[in-house]
Amino acid sequence: MDYSTLIKARRSVRKYQEGTSISDAAINEILLAAQMAPSWKNTQTGRYYIVKSPDMVAKIKAETLPDFNQRSSKNAPVIIVTAFEKNISGFEKDGTPTNELGNEWGAYDLGLQNAYMLLKARELGIDSLIMGIRDSEKLRKELGIPASQQVAAVIALGYSAAEPMCPKRKDLDEIRKVF
Ligand SMILES: Cc1cc2nc3c(=O)[nH]c(=O)nc-3n(C[C@H](O)[C@H](O)[C@H](O)COP(=O)(O)O)c2cc1C
Repeated sequence: MDYSTLIKARRSVRKYQEGTSISDAAINEILLAAQMAPSWKNTQTGRYYIVKSPDMVAKIKAETLPDFNQRSSKNAPVIIVTAFEKNISGFEKDGTPTNELGNEWGAYDLGLQNAYMLLKARELGIDSLIMGIRDSEKLRKELGIPASQQVAAVIALGYSAAEPMCPKRKDLDEIRKVF
């Protein structure tokens, strides 16, 4: 699939087919795509917690997502919890932040990685939903995510049971200033 088609084909999917699974090979391909993203001084601070056993997927959804995200991710067979190692991306070797953004650079890197991941998933025919509304402390506890890492988005992966419309994008004139 060419790039223009791919970026238009990806949608946030909130209705998934029942009774599906995603192979380990596909999950690994998706993670390898994430690893190809650029990162601050190639620090690669993104971390991924793959939840795929049906019992654990059900538990994580029930205990860490609000009702509306539980409904949206229903039947999605895989949940990927994304995190990043803090105080590395955007920081000097002595631990001081390089500039005013500090750990926001870690979140920036993770967002780039996640974008690569979702596009690779779509190329493989797998749909996704990023969920930023989740209980990070419960996720930390359930998955043993260390204090050195910032918990970020939870990503549901599965096969769409609907054809979502593309939410309207702003006109270029609203987002750019040309000099
Ligand atoms: C950081 C981030 C957090 C998001 N959190 C949620 C969420 O908790 N629940 C949800 O249904 N969608 C969530 N979304 C999906 C957005 O609503 C969606 O990307 C946006 O409406 C554009 O639609 P599209 O992804 O189909 O292009 C999130 C997206 C991003 C990038």
